[in-house]
This record gives sequence, C-alpha cells and structure tokens, in this order.
Amino acid sequence: MKKQKKIVITSTSMSESSRSRLALSYCEQIIMEFASDNITCDFIDVRDISTSYTSKKAKGYIKKFQKADAIIIGIPIHNWGASAQAIDFLSNAIDSEQIKAFTPCVLIGGAGSDKALLALDGVVRSLLTETNAMILGKPIIVSASDTNQDKTEISNNVAERLEKVVEKMLELLGD
Ligand SMILES: Cc1cc2nc3c(=O)[nH]c(=O)nc-3n(C[C@H](O)[C@H](O)[C@H](O)COP(=O)(O)O)c2cc1C
Repeated sequence: MKKQKKIVITSTSMSESSRSRLALSYCEQIIMEFASDNITCDFIDVRDISTSYTSKKAKGYIKKFQKADAIIIGIPIHNWGASAQAIDFLSNAIDSEQIKAFTPCVLIGGAGSDKALLALDGVVRSLLTETNAMILGKPIIVSASDTNQDKTEISNNVAERLEKVVEKMLELLGD
C-alpha cells in the first residue's frame, strides 16, 4: 500500500476576496480531481488566527504546516514584499528542525501589478537558507491582469502554470 502524503495549502491573505487564495483554491481543485487516494489536502487560512501565535488554533496550524509532505503558500504582496501577516506566520512556521528535508514548496503571490516578480525573494531566501525545503519553479504572481474584477476567475495563463507545478508536486510525492 502507498504511504499517505499530505499537501498543506496555506493562505496568508487577510482579504475577503483574495487573488492568492483564488489561485490556492484552484490548486486544491486540481489536487482533488487528479491526485491518488493516498494524497490528501489540508487548507489552512491564516485569517482564522488571531494576532497571537500562542493560541491553540495558531499552534495547530503551524504544526500542520511543518508536518506537511508538500506545501503551497499564498502570499499577498504589500510594498514590494510579502505582507506583514504572511511574514508573521512564516516567521513562526519556518523552522529548520521541523520542516522535512526536500519538502516541495510552491509560492503564489497576490499582487496588483504584474511587475511584482521579485517581491517574494525574501520568502524564497528564508525557505532556502533556513530549511532544506525545495521550491518548485519561480513564484507564481497573480496580478490584477490575471483575475476578473470580482476575483472569482483566474486567467488561462495562470491556470496553466498552476496545473504544471501541481503536476510536478504530485510526481515528486510519488503519485
Ligand atoms: C498596503 C498595500 C500595499 C500594496 N503594495 C503593492 C505592491 O507593492 N505591489 C503590487 O503589485 N501590489 C500591491 N498591493 C496590491 C495587492 O498586492 C493586491 O491587492 C493583491 O491582490 C493582494 O493579494 P491578495 O488578494 O491575495 O490578498 C498592495 C496592497 C496593499 C493593501
């Protein structure tokens, strides 16, 4: 029997209608549709956590994130970097002792501008230098030109990039 593997999808946006969360939901849909039964998916939403990281719920989320076999993180871009809430969560969750070596990670940025390509370099650096996680490809930026006005639909271009990276993640998980 194949070993059970868990993909943890983590949204760090505080926004009700979030571009990064929309892209994460699409990833979840693809996984549900195409992954084998031994792969499960957990969606954690940092919006549910109060500002304190000492609560039981926050600790539970951090543990889930750290125990994941693969991680997909959605990060809003504020002032040309990851938002303060995203940094806050990741600073608590990125721990070299806890995150398994070679955990595949995908980074998705929600942005206003399609010129925000370098904005997640700080998160990339933290993951690559503080853990032995493996980042799959470059961050996927979902900008205003990649969603409709209501932020309920993503462009074909972003959808295709998400499909490819999720496919690679499933392959690495042995699916
Ligand atoms: C305080 C603040 C700063 C922002 N700074 C940038 C920025 O530097 N570059 C950019 O492209 N968009 C910027 N935006 C727009 C957000 O990136 C955009 O709203 C995006 O959709 C946020 O991701 P989310 O929808 O997943 O929350 C900013 C928004 C806010 C509220």
